[in-house]
Amino acid sequence: MCVERVPVSISVCVRQRAAHSSVVAGQINMADPCSFSCVSSCVTKHLNLALALDFERRVIRGKVALTVEALRDRFSALTLDSRDLQIVSVSANGQAARFTMGPKHSFKGTPLDITLPFDLSRGQHVIVEVTYETSPSATALQWLTPAQTAGKTQPYLFSQCQAHHCRSMIPCQDTPSVKHTYYAQVSVPKDLVAVMSAMRDGQEVDPQDSSRIVYRFRQPVPMPSYLIAIVAGALESREIGPRSRVWSEKEFVDKAAFEFSETETMLKTAEDLAGPYVWGQYDILVLPPSFPYGGMENPCLTFATPTLLAGDKSLSNVIAHEISHSWTGNLVTNKTWEHFWLNEGHTVYLERMIGRSLESEQFRQFKAMGGWKDLQDSVNTFGANNPLTNLVPSLQDVDPDDAFSSVPYEKGFALLYHLEELLGGPEVFMGFVKSYIQMFAYGSATTDEWKNYLFTYFKDKVDVLNKVDWNGWMFTPGMPPVKNQYDTTLADACIALSQRWIKAKDGDLSSFKESDVKTLSSHQIIEFLSLLLQEEPLPLTHVKKMQQLYDLNASMNAEIRFRWLRLCVRARWEEAVPMAMKMATEQGRMKFTRPLFKEVFNFEKYRDEAVRMFVAHRAAMHPVTSGLVAKDLKLDANTASL
Ligand code: BES
Ligand code: ZN
Repeated sequence: MCVERVPVSISVCVRQRAAHSSVVAGQINMADPCSFSCVSSCVTKHLNLALALDFERRVIRGKVALTVEALRDRFSALTLDSRDLQIVSVSANGQAARFTMGPKHSFKGTPLDITLPFDLSRGQHVIVEVTYETSPSATALQWLTPAQTAGKTQPYLFSQCQAHHCRSMIPCQDTPSVKHTYYAQVSVPKDLVAVMSAMRDGQEVDPQDSSRIVYRFRQPVPMPSYLIAIVAGALESREIGPRSRVWSEKEFVDKAAFEFSETETMLKTAEDLAGPYVWGQYDILVLPPSFPYGGMENPCLTFATPTLLAGDKSLSNVIAHEISHSWTGNLVTNKTWEHFWLNEGHTVYLERMIGRSLESEQFRQFKAMGGWKDLQDSVNTFGANNPLTNLVPSLQDVDPDDAFSSVPYEKGFALLYHLEELLGGPEVFMGFVKSYIQMFAYGSATTDEWKNYLFTYFKDKVDVLNKVDWNGWMFTPGMPPVKNQYDTTLADACIALSQRWIKAKDGDLSSFKESDVKTLSSHQIIEFLSLLLQEEPLPLTHVKKMQQLYDLNASMNAEIRFRWLRLCVRARWEEAVPMAMKMATEQGRMKFTRPLFKEVFNFEKYRDEAVRMFVAHRAAMHPVTSGLVAKDLKLDANTASL
């Protein structure tokens, strides 16, 4: 435990943490291996932010006042997380405070050690104010030129703080074990609109500069730092429900309103399942194409990729997923990133329960089967012995961005579904999930706490629970110890068609017809392609025939197009290479961009082309995406060219 500080730049807290592995043989240590802050000596209760966005210099000039509660007597020093920040000054209750910056860590950033000019007793509060400036290379931020936007006339800024990037935007206790409210004032040039993951609270001409506007926000529900989000651009909005608007550049507002018109229905369904929605507003912001994720559950304002808008109105699960995080993730939060499966596994479970209510049980089963395949793909990519495929991995010295995969989502879901079957079915198990949410609402939980609560809730079924192979599920790499059996009604047509293609000889190709896919839904086409991607590459003759009949080159549905192009590149169809590179660079959702780059990279003849395309585009890419693609292509982080 971190008790006293030593008069050097790293605290006892940090040193001791470095000595302990956080997940040891199933025993979980509470310290967050991804943060320098010491949450057993103090916790942040509130942030008051004043941010001025400088688009010329690509920096935010910020002032943050943290209300910090001491958890010990004689408390006089604290460490905040920071990354690439320039600290101008620090004060405590208005008095100047001494501060030093520790050594820079590759992904944790730089500890900001602050010494207060006085002592606090346990339970007392202090307001620590830090004046600072971000760096143009802040990993949480992407600054876009007008040319990179749809409107072409105004610049754009968005943040993505999960998992550990908030510290590059705000010095703070950047760990999900700490929750606080926030208030913010954001100054932007007057042609821009700013929105945050909070309730809007008015705007005024910037009293310091009449060419700018200050937007105000308040977030009265305590939340972790990774959910702080900011966006500024030529934004417009349209109402889509009693508590929902869509936000985007004007070019996309109508499309977005159409695509997301089911939002209120989904919110109501989620409330029936999980309890009241506590965040007031639920808006959706459609970002520019380089947004690295499908969706991000920023409170009051889900961030969504524009790739959801392409093609026909899809029954996308992304919004059901992000809505579900309002309970699992945002209300009940993983205590450290080692327990990320608590966020994502439960959210996928809830997302599929929404699918069950709005579609059918068969649809839920179909999606669950697809998820098992995604898990298999992640296990294959990481390797079946890779400890990062544990449901609860140790993240000691592991960058959470490098650990990201389908494992927490789909191994997490598979465990919850397995328990659902053992304990009495969907209604019974949903009762537990709802009760778990109530129990840990407004707090953060570990896997142990979740498991203890499971045993308490099902106290009459402890013998069933004791038969579960907990160590196999949680602390063993590879596929889970039990394979769930799902209903195959909706998958059967996909399996049959994929098998015909896999088994076909060149002479059999005339048996395929345009009509093969006419009766399949988009979900089923995605599943059909996923099944083919799990097999050996198809012969080139086969994919050419498939194009001739099904014309998948014409599909603008990103989930279909991405799988189809991978299949073609794997079959060594040279014509598909430019299309794959186009998709990899015209949008930046990592789920698509990373595998597309990797696929072309693995096509020997086009390896240099993949690298060339990456080098040509990297400056315009999101900082996290370009870092990960560089690693995927085995390039040094700073290599300019081959
Ligand atoms: N919270 C995640 C996105 C995320 C995870 C960002 C980790 C940074 C670090 C979000 O809820 C998510 O899971 N998005 C998925 C949606 C899908 C599962 C429906 C995505 O982006 O594809
Ligand atoms: Zn999620």
